[in-house]
Amino acid sequence: MMEPNELIERTADHVRACLSDEGSGHDWWHSYRVWRTAKRIAKAEGADSLVVELAALLHDLGDWKAHGGDATVGPAVSRRWLESLGAESPIVDHVCQIVGGISFKGAGVEQPPLSLEGQVVQDADRLDAIGAIGIARVFAYGGAKGQLIHDPHRQPIEHRTAEAYLSSGGTSINHFYEKLLLLRDRMNTSAGRALADQRHQFMEQFLRRFHEEWEGG
Ligand code: NI
Repeated sequence: MMEPNELIERTADHVRACLSDEGSGHDWWHSYRVWRTAKRIAKAEGADSLVVELAALLHDLGDWKAHGGDATVGPAVSRRWLESLGAESPIVDHVCQIVGGISFKGAGVEQPPLSLEGQVVQDADRLDAIGAIGIARVFAYGGAKGQLIHDPHRQPIEHRTAEAYLSSGGTSINHFYEKLLLLRDRMNTSAGRALADQRHQFMEQFLRRFHEEWEGG
């Protein structure tokens, strides 16, 4: 059995190599930030740091949005990797369960229950979608998809299914109202919520200015 630190370092190297060419916001540096934030929340919440760090690193490796909605790809890819390192099976099972459980599939879609470690990783992933980083990511993603920055005639909508969420073709500004501003109230842990509060306020400030400037303010 490999030392926990070596397991984490080897996994970080692997994920960095796999995701280095990804340009839509789910790149290596997203995983890096989720890893750092998850580690910080895990410490505050007393969660198992090894499981949290591995799941945070691996959580987007086989991202379901990139595989036509197939949610089994992520856990399978993670399992193959961790087993190749000889990780203990309770750790492998727990990490894969988290990787399969944390993806956002639309505001009205039912989510499976998560362990404390899963809650920590989900919080860290959601935190990376809000605040200054979140603002940068939403426009990078919208640009990659050819979406408008904003269209005052298009109202934000609540997506009831995963398919509706993926095929909505909305605007970047609507994405704030359809997803990003909902995330603060969906935090699982109190450490996650404290971080989310600050980032949420920053987005609200940004949107106020954006709408003012849109009208010539
Ligand atoms: Ni992610």
